[in-house]
Amino acid sequence: MKAKLPKQLIIALFMFACKPIALSVDTLYGGQNITDGQYLISSNGIFELGFFSPNSSTDRFLGIWFKVSTDAVVWVSNRDSPLKNTSGILNIHNNGSLVLYDSSERMVWSSSSKATSIQNDFSPVLQLKDSGNLILKDQKNNTIIWQSFDHPTDTLLAGMKLGKNLKTGFEWVLSSWKNKNDPSEGNYICMMDTQGAPELHIRDKDQIRYRTGMWNGISFSGLTQMIGYGDMFTFLFVWDNDEVWYGFELKSNSTLSRFVMNVAGILQRLVWDPNQQTWNVFWSGPQDECDYYAKCGSFGICQPNNVIACNCLRGFEAATPTEWNMRDYTGGCKRRAPLGCTAKSDGFYELKGVKLPDSNNATVDVNMSVEDCKVKCLMNCSCLAYSPSDTTGKGSGCVMWNTALVDIKYITGGPDVLRKKRYSKLEKSLGLKESFKDADLPVFDMETILQATNNLFITNVVGEGGFGIVYKGKLPSGQEIAVKRLTGNSSQGLSEFMNEVTLIAKLQHRNLVRVLGCCIQNNERMLIYEFMKNKSLDFFIFDKEKRATLSWRTRLEIVTGIARGLLYLHHDSRYNIIHRDLKAANVLLDEEMNPKISDFGTARLFQRDQAVIRTETVIGTRGYMSPEYITEGKFSVKSDVYSFGVLLLEIMSGKRNMGNQNLVAYVGINFAWKLWEEESILKLLDEAVESTTFETELLRCVHVGLLCVQECPDDRPSMSSVIMMLSSDNLVPPAPNKPSSSRSIGGFNADRHHSYESGSCSVDEITITCMEGR
Ligand SMILES: *[C@@H]1O[C@H](CO)[C@@H](O)[C@H](O)[C@H]1NC(C)=O
Ligand SMILES: *[C@@H]1O[C@H](CO)[C@@H](O)[C@H](O)[C@H]1NC(C)=O
Ligand SMILES: *[C@@H]1O[C@H](CO)[C@@H](O)[C@H](O)[C@H]1NC(C)=O
Ligand SMILES: *[C@@H]1O[C@H](CO)[C@@H](O)[C@H](O)[C@H]1NC(C)=O
Ligand SMILES: *[C@@H]1O[C@H](CO)[C@@H](O)[C@H](O)[C@H]1NC(C)=O
Ligand SMILES: *[C@@H]1O[C@H](CO)[C@@H](O)[C@H](O)[C@H]1NC(C)=O
Ligand SMILES: *[C@@H]1O[C@H](CO)[C@@H](O)[C@H](O)[C@H]1NC(C)=O
Ligand SMILES: *[C@@H]1O[C@H](CO)[C@@H](O)[C@H](O)[C@H]1NC(C)=O
Ligand SMILES: *[C@@H]1O[C@H](CO)[C@@H](O)[C@H](O)[C@H]1NC(C)=O
Ligand SMILES: *[C@@H]1O[C@H](CO)[C@@H](O)[C@H](O)[C@H]1NC(C)=O
Ligand SMILES: *[C@@H]1O[C@H](CO)[C@@H](O)[C@H](O)[C@H]1NC(C)=O
Repeated sequence: MKAKLPKQLIIALFMFACKPIALSVDTLYGGQNITDGQYLISSNGIFELGFFSPNSSTDRFLGIWFKVSTDAVVWVSNRDSPLKNTSGILNIHNNGSLVLYDSSERMVWSSSSKATSIQNDFSPVLQLKDSGNLILKDQKNNTIIWQSFDHPTDTLLAGMKLGKNLKTGFEWVLSSWKNKNDPSEGNYICMMDTQGAPELHIRDKDQIRYRTGMWNGISFSGLTQMIGYGDMFTFLFVWDNDEVWYGFELKSNSTLSRFVMNVAGILQRLVWDPNQQTWNVFWSGPQDECDYYAKCGSFGICQPNNVIACNCLRGFEAATPTEWNMRDYTGGCKRRAPLGCTAKSDGFYELKGVKLPDSNNATVDVNMSVEDCKVKCLMNCSCLAYSPSDTTGKGSGCVMWNTALVDIKYITGGPDVLRKKRYSKLEKSLGLKESFKDADLPVFDMETILQATNNLFITNVVGEGGFGIVYKGKLPSGQEIAVKRLTGNSSQGLSEFMNEVTLIAKLQHRNLVRVLGCCIQNNERMLIYEFMKNKSLDFFIFDKEKRATLSWRTRLEIVTGIARGLLYLHHDSRYNIIHRDLKAANVLLDEEMNPKISDFGTARLFQRDQAVIRTETVIGTRGYMSPEYITEGKFSVKSDVYSFGVLLLEIMSGKRNMGNQNLVAYVGINFAWKLWEEESILKLLDEAVESTTFETELLRCVHVGLLCVQECPDDRPSMSSVIMMLSSDNLVPPAPNKPSSSRSIGGFNADRHHSYESGSCSVDEITITCMEGR
């Protein structure tokens, strides 16, 4: 067996052989000096300490650098007091300080050690460690008196800390060189900002120049490129009661890396490429215009590489539009409509893939659950947004913002696909509070919906419609919701779905059920509605006992309400929506029995990409479908008017307009027509309604209903005429034509040889005669 020489000795011998003057070990003892031209070399040969002149300067500094790249200076002792010639001397003072003298024995620099009680038998030793740390120790009890890692200049090496001791207030800060020739303190510092959620800041004097975004468990939220280098580094972020700091470790001893606050104000992670003999930049910040602090002002969001970099967050608009048009975004954005400030009127919209806003004034609780965080924010009027503080796993912790949201930026994934994939899992999202009134469409996350509906449990099912199952649920805020889970395998693309649903969300009318949001995950698509306590109209009008609770007045109000809702869909909403499936089951009732049309637009939502046959069998409901739809598949607003007429007659009569095969006990459109001709309309009225003091009203109502179910679409009134006729005594509606062919009996008619002929209808304008003097 060969005896192995200690590495240190080999280097010492080697150095002695070719450079006799060099002090070529890693250790300096008390009483020894280091003069210009002498070096300490770490035992692994990576780091070297000695005197140097940067670039073209002639000033001499004592520093530490990478031996393979002497320009890569990682630490400078006398950065602010250069030596003017090569006569500097470093030694250990017997009071326990490291001292640098010039040739006239004037002290140029000293390690201001805190060692107050230096023992008489003090035995100091200075060593340059393999990590690049220069350590001054008391050999007697192996106590570290001073170390260069506690006094960084512009470089962070593996094993160093960048942060703050929360007990003593001591900070580890990087500060840039003034320029390449001058290591004295420059304009830029990189420090840990500990207000709110800790994050790194680059400051230019006292101004924030750049934020990394808070730590999310894996990386800084604005520096996603960090992800994907996990095979090379272990990134550390320690935040406990004593300290908060960022650091890193190298997974291989052969990797050389440094993290530098450079003279241009850019923070860079550099890795040595031994083949090319250069330093590669792995990531840097700021990296684009959006990284410059508060580029888009309050409530603005920055999109890198866009012609127009700044936008306002949803629900906000430019506070200074003129300046914005001229690309000056500093004025930021203002809210379009104030928050309602109640859990009922406010919700959240999720902003994904962003660098989280400055959390300086935010409240941080690392122990709170994300759900509690959301609820707490919803309940607190001053809370504007929330986010988990840690996105690892299911996410945890809570950051709540209650002042203007500043410095938000869309971030992109890492530089390759793999990294993007990893990144998307960790995507940071901000729950931005917004008023439903103003919302385009809040997106609920699946977790919330599952929790709200007892995991979509069967006992939570409250209904089932053509397009899905409806579950009842309760949000953590206490708000009751109806979740419609769309079934079937729609090939509709996500963006089309979002467009449609966003459109629906914009429909705001007291006679339409409000969509609170949607939830999308893989093939699951859900719509979240406000929950209606009194279920749907069919529960009432087709139930013997419940029917009796509906007075004439209530019925008339329900009919009028439905008409108003439909008018809004057809004309007033700007979108001209045809409902296509108006029926008793799609009219929901709130606590005060106000009717609210539901499922509006869903028919249209599905029409585009489903087979024609399927459309015919699924969309529309027997008894409510107009003849032109049955025979020709033609649909217009007048088809909705037809359905409305049927519904009106059903509400009056309490009977379902169904084409019963045997026509036993059948009451429908043709029965109404028969009574109309016999002038005995009162017989149509549900026997459950007692009083008959409203004969004229009933007559007018049925008259309107019969106008609506006329065979020819053009004969049917528009919804605005319907409302006018229903609400005014002054109008004399035209006489209705006979409803569709007697063979169809107004109910669903499967007979394709229907007598309806398109084009043969006579168009009869509704004549409106006003009483004189009114
Ligand atoms: C170290 O330098 C001092 C001057 O600062 C000198 O007096 C002393 O002799 C030197 N010691 C050695 C061992 O060179
Ligand atoms: C280094 O010094 C040379 C010579 O003075 C100068 O031209 C060059 O700009 C310097 N490099 C930097 C990066 O300052
Ligand atoms: C070195 O510079 C110092 C001032 O920094 C001066 O006092 C000293 O005389 C100079 N020594 C030589 C050898 O030039
Ligand atoms: C030790 O001596 C040096 C040089 O005189 C001085 O700058 C330093 O403050 C002293 N340190 C302590 C701890 O007294
Ligand atoms: C060395 O250890 C003793 C206790 O054994 C302690 O009192 C002293 O402070 C230590 N020395 C230093 C420089 O910390
Ligand atoms: C890396 O360095 C450490 C400490 O210097 C040493 O214990 C370890 O064996 C080294 N690992 C390799 C792979 O060289
Ligand atoms: C934090 O609050 C202070 C005092 O109100 C304000 O000046 C500062 O702009 C706020 N910072 C952020 C990031 O909102
Ligand atoms: C959070 O929880 C940890 C461990 O459960 C505890 O040590 C710490 O004090 C808690 N912090 C706060 C702010 O409650
Ligand atoms: C709401 O949030 C603010 C800011 O964090 C806080 O000062 C206030 O106590 C909170 N109010 C309630 C009722 O929790
Ligand atoms: C839905 O469609 C997708 C793609 O066309 C298919 O992979 C999936 O199995 C379908 N799911 C059902 C339940 O039919
Ligand atoms: C409608 O719902 C409310 C609240 O649940 C209830 O008090 C009321 O009796 C219901 N109305 C009818 C007609 O059932």
